[in-house]
Amino acid sequence: MLAYLNGQFLPRADAAVPVEDRGFVFGDGVYEVWRVVGGRLFETARHLARLSSGLHELRIPSPDLVDAERLVAIADRLLTDDGLLDGEATFYVEVTRGVAPRTHQFPSGRIAPTVFAMANPFKPAEDLRRAGATCITMPDIRWLRCDIKTIQLLPNVLGKQAAAEVGALDVLFVRDGVVTETSHSYVLAVIDGVIRTHPTNNLILPGITRAVVLEIARDLKMRVDETPFAATDLPRASEVFLAGTTTDVMPIVRVDDVVVGEGKPGPIATTLFRELRSRLDATAKTRPTRAAAAASA
Ligand code: PDD
Repeated sequence: MLAYLNGQFLPRADAAVPVEDRGFVFGDGVYEVWRVVGGRLFETARHLARLSSGLHELRIPSPDLVDAERLVAIADRLLTDDGLLDGEATFYVEVTRGVAPRTHQFPSGRIAPTVFAMANPFKPAEDLRRAGATCITMPDIRWLRCDIKTIQLLPNVLGKQAAAEVGALDVLFVRDGVVTETSHSYVLAVIDGVIRTHPTNNLILPGITRAVVLEIARDLKMRVDETPFAATDLPRASEVFLAGTTTDVMPIVRVDDVVVGEGKPGPIATTLFRELRSRLDATAKTRPTRAAAAASA
């Protein structure tokens, strides 16, 4: 597998970052993950805008890769070399403040950010989606800037691990009684016939799949209300589902010991998944992959 590191393409096993990288010592950086279908990035611009805004918030100078054309060129090269132009993949980008002697404050003088990218094969969890998944709840112990997609992910790691240890898919974070999001996706619940989800503020990531799914729901004249719901509302939800770049729309059929609705994937989640899936598939068709272009040349 190939990696992109600071302007170079090299075997991933040879891609190394100095130990004084501020990402390594402080978690001082941001990342982004794109879904890739048929060699094509899904929602390129929206993810790029979120990366750019995270860099701005952390006052890390924007590297060259924060440009749609440059980004797609890097992704194309990695996807091509890794044999990932067909089927599904993810594209990961991380930018840290760079390498400097360890002091908490920003280094004096301008240092070059560390820029890393890789592509990985991806297999959507279709069996789980058909059956419906389970989740556990846990206090949301994250900081108050969850809107920045930083590489500091310990609460997410611990939450996902706690879920995995009891055979659940993920953790629903609960802050002051309110359901915020999971370790790496958004939470939506159908309560009194209305799709409810946490509003976009500092307590959740400004969501790309969330935005796409809500667009689809509104197009289909489903009722949507971006006001948060409490964990105590879950027993009366007819459906609960997650949404995210690597989750798509995932029905949740049990939360802790509470069975959701009829204990099987509901009609709203099923419809939203189908529509999201067709947008993902349409993405693959909007531009010939390099392989297809070469074949037809
Ligand atoms: N995570 N919430 C959190 C905390 C996330 O980390 C993610 C994505 C999402 C879903 O985001 P979107 O659909 O906007 O990309 C929600 C990526 C996939 C990850 O950490 O691997």
